[in-house]
Amino acid sequence: MKKITVIGAGNVGATVANVIAHKDLAREVVLVDIKEGIAEGKALDIWQTSSINNFNTRVVGVTNDYLKTKGSSIVVITSGLPRKPGMSRDDLIKTNALIVKDVTEKVIRYSPEAIIIIVSNPLDVMTYCAYRAALKDERKVFGMAGILDIGRYKAFIAEALKISPKDIHSLLLGGHGDTMVPLPRYTSIGGIPVTELLNKEEIDKIVERTRKGGGELVNLMGTSAWYAPGAAAAQMVEAIVDDQQRIFPVCAKLNGEYGHKDVFLGVPVKLGANGIEEIIELKLTKEEKKAFDESAASVKSMMDVLDSMNIFD
Ligand code: NAI
Ligand code: 2OP
Repeated sequence: MKKITVIGAGNVGATVANVIAHKDLAREVVLVDIKEGIAEGKALDIWQTSSINNFNTRVVGVTNDYLKTKGSSIVVITSGLPRKPGMSRDDLIKTNALIVKDVTEKVIRYSPEAIIIIVSNPLDVMTYCAYRAALKDERKVFGMAGILDIGRYKAFIAEALKISPKDIHSLLLGGHGDTMVPLPRYTSIGGIPVTELLNKEEIDKIVERTRKGGGELVNLMGTSAWYAPGAAAAQMVEAIVDDQQRIFPVCAKLNGEYGHKDVFLGVPVKLGANGIEEIIELKLTKEEKKAFDESAASVKSMMDVLDSMNIFD
């Protein structure tokens, strides 16, 4: 059994820790936050459900004490601000990059072998930031977004067809945001292509709602989502802990796959004990490739903003 660290004990971080504990995926989960008492309190609250919900994973919280994270095999980074009104995307990159760089360096000092999963936004560029800060094998630093986006897409399809979301399989490519590329061509329900069950107009509506799925929740709650993001990050942890070799859309560094190099984008990967075991390259139609290229250009422009900060010099 392993030790897993979650950085940031806000809405998403606490949810990741809670799901990991409930699935008994680790011997210990260490929750870290910069705000005095918040991680300690949430960890204690989760740990006090152990006898009620029957799990053994010990959940502990600390304020900025990285020594307690020593020897973690997986670290999930959720620290950072969600985008606030009046804040530009560039402002968010600048604020969160400093946080993600700082926590990644601290984490690596005590857990040099850890696999790092990034959740902080803007996701693709923060994954790049953590990769640069960690100075690690690129197959061990990657980001969570696709499982969440696909989760939303499947929930909308299940609702439209009045069927179990469990029977839906699908894939999605690209960055986490409006330029994401859901793939109806690779969506099936119990083996039946979705195109046999929903018409183009219905599918287009679902694709559009998926693209804007994060914003829909911000509009409803005044802050971004946490149950589905937390569950999605925990599912990646589970695939690694149990060496499941599962296929998920994950934000990974591309080295020529899909015609792109040195850019971090959502692609299907095989996830196992070594992190990203393999990037799976699909044949795309002209239209899908165009959408993927546009998404890559959008992420690249955000990576350029990070580079212009010169924080790694
Ligand atoms: P939150 O505001 O509830 O929690 C963030 C936590 O990070 C706070 O408790 C804060 O004190 C902590 N923090 C800030 N600086 C820190 C530092 N240097 N060290 C340790 N902790 C620090 O925010 P929430 O809702 O949990 O979201 C966290 C991040 O995840 C945001 O950037 C958000 O946009 C992103 N997100 C990404 C998703 C994805 O699909 N990749 C989905 C949902 C949220
Ligand atoms: C979400 O998609 C905002 O990334 C966050 O919920």
